[in-house]
Amino acid sequence: MSRATGPTGTTAVTAVRFEHRRVGDGLGIGVAAPRLSWITETKVPGWWQAGYQVEVVDGRGEPVATPEPVESDESVLVPWPAEPLGSRERRRVRVRVWGSDGGASGWSEPAEVEAGLLVPADWSARFVAPDFADPAAGGGDDPPTARPSLLRCAFEVHEPVESARLYVTALGVYEVEINGTRVGDQVLAPGWTSYDHRLRVETFDVTGLLHPGANAIGAWLAEGWYGGKLGWDGGRRIYGHRLALLAQLELALADGTTQTVATGAGDRWRAHASPIVASGIYAGEDYDARREQPGWSRAGFDDRDWLPTTNVERDLGTLGARVGPPVRRTETLRPVAVTTSASGRAIVDFGQNLVGRVRVNAQGESGSTLTIRHAEVLEGGELCTAPLRGAAATDRFTLRGDGVETWEPRFTFHGFRYAEIEAQGFSAGAPGPDAIAAVACHSDMERTGWFSCSDERITQLHANIVWGMRGNFLDVPTDCPQRDERLGWTGDINVFAPTASFLYDCAGVLASWLADLAADQGDDGVVPLVVPNALEATFPAAVWGDAAVIVPWVIYQRFGDVGVLRDQWASMRAWVDHVVGLAGENRLWDEGFQFADWLDPSAPEDRPQQARTDPHLVATAALCHSLDVMAAAADVVGARPEGRADDAAHYRSIAAEVRAAFAREYVAPSGLLVSDSQTAYALALRYALLPEAEQRLRAGRRLAKLVRHAGHRIATGFVGTPIVCDALCGAGEAASAYELLVQEECPSWLYPVLHGATTVWERWDGIKPDGSLNGVRMNSFNHYALGAVGDWLHRTVGGLAPAAPGYRRLRIAPIPGGGLSSASSHHRTPYGPAESSWRIEDGSIALDALVPPNTTAEVVLPGAATGRDPIRVGSGRHAWRVPYPIASPGRPAPRGGLSRSAHRPRS
Ligand code: BGC
Repeated sequence: MSRATGPTGTTAVTAVRFEHRRVGDGLGIGVAAPRLSWITETKVPGWWQAGYQVEVVDGRGEPVATPEPVESDESVLVPWPAEPLGSRERRRVRVRVWGSDGGASGWSEPAEVEAGLLVPADWSARFVAPDFADPAAGGGDDPPTARPSLLRCAFEVHEPVESARLYVTALGVYEVEINGTRVGDQVLAPGWTSYDHRLRVETFDVTGLLHPGANAIGAWLAEGWYGGKLGWDGGRRIYGHRLALLAQLELALADGTTQTVATGAGDRWRAHASPIVASGIYAGEDYDARREQPGWSRAGFDDRDWLPTTNVERDLGTLGARVGPPVRRTETLRPVAVTTSASGRAIVDFGQNLVGRVRVNAQGESGSTLTIRHAEVLEGGELCTAPLRGAAATDRFTLRGDGVETWEPRFTFHGFRYAEIEAQGFSAGAPGPDAIAAVACHSDMERTGWFSCSDERITQLHANIVWGMRGNFLDVPTDCPQRDERLGWTGDINVFAPTASFLYDCAGVLASWLADLAADQGDDGVVPLVVPNALEATFPAAVWGDAAVIVPWVIYQRFGDVGVLRDQWASMRAWVDHVVGLAGENRLWDEGFQFADWLDPSAPEDRPQQARTDPHLVATAALCHSLDVMAAAADVVGARPEGRADDAAHYRSIAAEVRAAFAREYVAPSGLLVSDSQTAYALALRYALLPEAEQRLRAGRRLAKLVRHAGHRIATGFVGTPIVCDALCGAGEAASAYELLVQEECPSWLYPVLHGATTVWERWDGIKPDGSLNGVRMNSFNHYALGAVGDWLHRTVGGLAPAAPGYRRLRIAPIPGGGLSSASSHHRTPYGPAESSWRIEDGSIALDALVPPNTTAEVVLPGAATGRDPIRVGSGRHAWRVPYPIASPGRPAPRGGLSRSAHRPRS
């Protein structure tokens, strides 16, 4: 390797990180050989990595390994270079790199990683449950809701504490306190996984919370997803009614000894009912501050009237570390208005549909209460809770009455923009707006993607897409966050994953979710409709089940993670093989119920699956796409399973048969399709289902014609909407795609925006043009699926797309239109920040690009002749200006601004 003798000063290695953990979050990792990634910052243009060296030292700074420099240009998810970590082992890692220019960086700042408890034998703790009467006793098949409780354990420490770790999880949701101080800032830990197979453990550094002498540890415990009923029509309890805590506190003491305080292992853990009287994910939380027990998590607290705990059996082999970030509070929003409704109720408007809860500061008499109800919309000026269906979404706070009390529910979340606050018993007046805030909560992923353009309406649509992701990435990627559902519907994330992967680093959240998908997948390969599986009945459904194949592929494409493909390979195969079996000899998936182009605006309101596109055309097209992905993925993972010479060839040949069957069944020689719909053409064009070039031309023209005939209003559902603009652009009909984008009439993307939407709606007409609420049962105002157009905005309007996995090669190829005079996409790729930004001025168009070090880009200048070779550039900033006589193809620039009216049908 050619390498310089010393650092150049212009090149530095930053952001050293492990697996899909954020920078600085290496504690309690669950893999023994965590892969490393880093970003090189350099002033050298066209910088390409020629090699790297990693130094690994142990917790005391003693070298563990300084492997030889590696001649490699890899800097994302590179293999762990030292001996695998044992449980609890800690390492500090530094990286330096050499560029192909011969220049070298200095060592990076050290990054720390520490393994959690990697094997069941590491646990001396056992799960403990409060020894209240077994809630199941006499309860028959339907035991009552488990009472939220407190658990505590007092213990002595005889030496100064050098370091301490808490390993903790629960059957239920928990928060821990040590000596009166909250441990960590996680919300709703341990999150929701397929608990029977995977339960996440958190590792906390609690060194600073312990001291020689008397200490105590305590935990709040409530049902959360584990013990609560999930799903509509009353839902069902999936996992169990018995809530339990598993905690192991390990102290390294100054005299070189260790001390362990553990649940269920001889230590004296006691339990008591908590001040949370009732708590449920859908129901909300009822908290009575008069029941608080001051000092309950401190030493010296008298717990003699607390009850004992009992051990609960549980397979510790199901325990594992968190893969992505935990849920946290990410933003606090103040009210933008407080109004009194016609019925005299105080309604707070936070100006944004968000997911989280309301925090109040209140002062009042003991026993006075605040009841907080939540909703996304108002109707007639009153809170409109009908769309929440069975979710009560009501919090109640009863005051102690001794000064200002701050309260926010712990173990619930709501999807809301409005909160109705009913105050009872406050003789000196209810809390005013200054005392109220909304706290947004979601998986604390790193924001990585931004988009803006000269049309304020489209920029607002994009902001709505971002909020839709924030609200629906609360540990599990869900359909919606407000009603009695909030489930990990597979179809929704299948279509939204590309958009999500641009906006936030969601690789960890999705990799974890995929592990649940595989865990909950049937032995026959059938993928549950929701993951974790909360439904009693499940069946194979195209696009929904295809999430098993497409989501890992998206993670590979966007984050460069081959490991996810390897980990998911068996699951991917099982699904596709199952569907190939269903398609049978004729290679068409032409039987059984399909959601297909769900929520096509022409479908009857109560039967969203009855779209204009033949559901089995959709199913067979989706199968073909999954087979193509399988073949490409098999090339990457090099799969050569037993009994098959080569997976790639196998899937490629079935894909060819399905394509031929599709063409026989659905395609006329002219290129017209038997389902003469936008979604059908979009699928056929995007998934290469039309064998002849002439047919593709004809289909492209037909698609544009259908779009025109529909008055440039949306005529597609969950399947067609994410791809219709791409299909149009691919057919040379970008102007039509822009016509769709800038349409304001219902149904369209901008229609909700102009009705004051701050998130993406589930239905195109969630609020009807006359301002009335669509009264159908299924009507969420925060569904990310139809926001999947975000991916097209990023790639085509802004013009920034990955051309090789992980953005190793970028494609910068904006297609201006829609009357826009400028647009930009900005993304923090795994290699560093990238940008594509254009503006039209004075008869020319200027394009600015930022290409991260260790990547290259292919650039297609706007207006360049089709078929011209792209310009290839290396890393650094680049700028071009080319003549561009047209203001911007498509419509004239937008009229007027945004109406920021609230969602207020019939107000
Ligand atoms: C969910 C959807 C989901 C669909 C499938 C709905 O209730 O909210 O987004 O994909 O059901 O049937």
